Amino acid sequence: MTNGNEWWRSAVIYQIYPRSFSDGIGDDGLGDLVGITERLPALVELGVDAIWLSPFYTSPQKDAGYDVADYCDVDPVFGTLADFVTLEKRAHELGLKLIVDLVPNHTSDQHRWFVEAMAADEGSPERGRYIFRDGKGKDGELPPNNWDSVFGGPAWTRVTRPDGTPGQWYLHLFDTSQPDLDWDSPWVREQFRDILRFWLDRGVDGFRVDVAHGLVKADGLPDYTPPASGGSMGGGTVGLEPEIEAHAADDPATPPYWAQERVHEIYRDWHNVLEEYDGERVLCAEAWVEPLSKLALWVRPDEMQQAFNFSYLETPWEGPAIRKVIDVSLEAFTSVGAPSTWVLSNHDVVRHASRLALTAENPQGHGIGPKSPGKPVRELGLRRARAATALMLALPGSAYLYQGEELGLPEVIDLPDEARQDPTWFRTHGERYGRDGCRVPIPWEADKPSYGFGPTGRSWLPQPADWAPYARDAQRGVAGSTLELYRLALALRAEQDLGMGGVEWLPGHGDDIVAFRNGGVIVIANTGEAAVELPAGEILLSSERLGDGILPGDTTVWLRA
Ligand code: GLC
Repeated sequence: MTNGNEWWRSAVIYQIYPRSFSDGIGDDGLGDLVGITERLPALVELGVDAIWLSPFYTSPQKDAGYDVADYCDVDPVFGTLADFVTLEKRAHELGLKLIVDLVPNHTSDQHRWFVEAMAADEGSPERGRYIFRDGKGKDGELPPNNWDSVFGGPAWTRVTRPDGTPGQWYLHLFDTSQPDLDWDSPWVREQFRDILRFWLDRGVDGFRVDVAHGLVKADGLPDYTPPASGGSMGGGTVGLEPEIEAHAADDPATPPYWAQERVHEIYRDWHNVLEEYDGERVLCAEAWVEPLSKLALWVRPDEMQQAFNFSYLETPWEGPAIRKVIDVSLEAFTSVGAPSTWVLSNHDVVRHASRLALTAENPQGHGIGPKSPGKPVRELGLRRARAATALMLALPGSAYLYQGEELGLPEVIDLPDEARQDPTWFRTHGERYGRDGCRVPIPWEADKPSYGFGPTGRSWLPQPADWAPYARDAQRGVAGSTLELYRLALALRAEQDLGMGGVEWLPGHGDDIVAFRNGGVIVIANTGEAAVELPAGEILLSSERLGDGILPGDTTVWLRA
């Protein structure tokens, strides 16, 4: 039951990508749970309400932990279950809610369930946990259908029988090391109820649900050819399309592996599992589903509480498109009694300090690298990112931040090829750079080895030589720094209770201007290049230094209403 006032309706939730946040143990250049616990006070100082931890579970790390080999234990590279308990206790003491990641679409191929399935006979209950099928063609030499993996290449891999002959094929919408579970199996459903309870018993406040649109596949696994419009992380329908109208209004054809109607019964079931526990728990869908009216099905009153608003993330920095996506979002989510979420960056997309100044199209998940067409201009990207964040944090609902964006970090474009680790890079033979550029360990102290990421100076992806000015200690207390802009925005947002407010559009502005009132704050964002007149009033926040009475291009201002 909802009381309409739950913390997640308005929370600012900070995504921690454990391997790149802080190397507390200092052994391997990989972040860990001890490092996160040590750094929690910095997040309290930043002013966020909750943290979401990307996977830290036992995993061969083929997809940076999104290939889980044991859902109820911690991978030794990140620490131990005891380290998790300490982290959680500390977070709660500090008043931070804690969300963990749940990866139900697929397991690692090293998960016991899959190892047993591979050892078992065709047609056995163990095989029935996954999606094994006979191949097509004379000898089953062709895959069961034409689906492609989100990471590139075919979505099927053929197994070899114990006698050395080729056997059936198994489905993997992502890497070969990530076999898809069969959610028609009651056994699979029971395992995940137990996994939810395992973490709820430990007191987590909720789950971010990975690939929440993918669990159920259409009966008969029919062939499907996606439209030629690029692809998003979920293999969805749009990349960085110039017109938001395309996202908001059209209902793209539903692929047989995404957004199937029967997926919703799983979330109704999980809703009830969460209800077994006291307190206000949250399920947040990572579902690359458009249009937003369809995504809203994930957050009906008896399903999940939140869904990432990727339509917002994919919206270009243009006034009309931004106004439209805000309207459509509020309408879609309000119609089912859910808050909207807002997000600009995460571990799967080009950081918004680079993305907003890209000069060429860049489909989600492709990344940018030395040979990509169109390079972001760094100063322009940062300027737009600061303005975009200042706009986002004034919106009602819940906002997600991705570690490092509060430092204004750009995408790292020039990683050496031999350092890259994203399966996308390997599966496309370097055609797509993938997501490593947004996953580089973050800088804490300008003058320390690895910018204070860890004591050894090592970092699992190399950090750029020019990152010292981005380090947290170089920005802390410095007026006008990106870190201080985030702190001020978060403090004002909390003080004015903007998360529980509303959007009242202010008329009389040109196309480039996004102007609205939320409670005691008037927000004016200039997405164009040309400066405009700034209405009189007390300035509470500005994403850039202001001249007298002027709102420059690519700048957002908050005025007292
Ligand atoms: C989600 C994750 C992404 C991962 C994929 C497969 O999209 O955010 O990082 O690679 O699922 O689990």
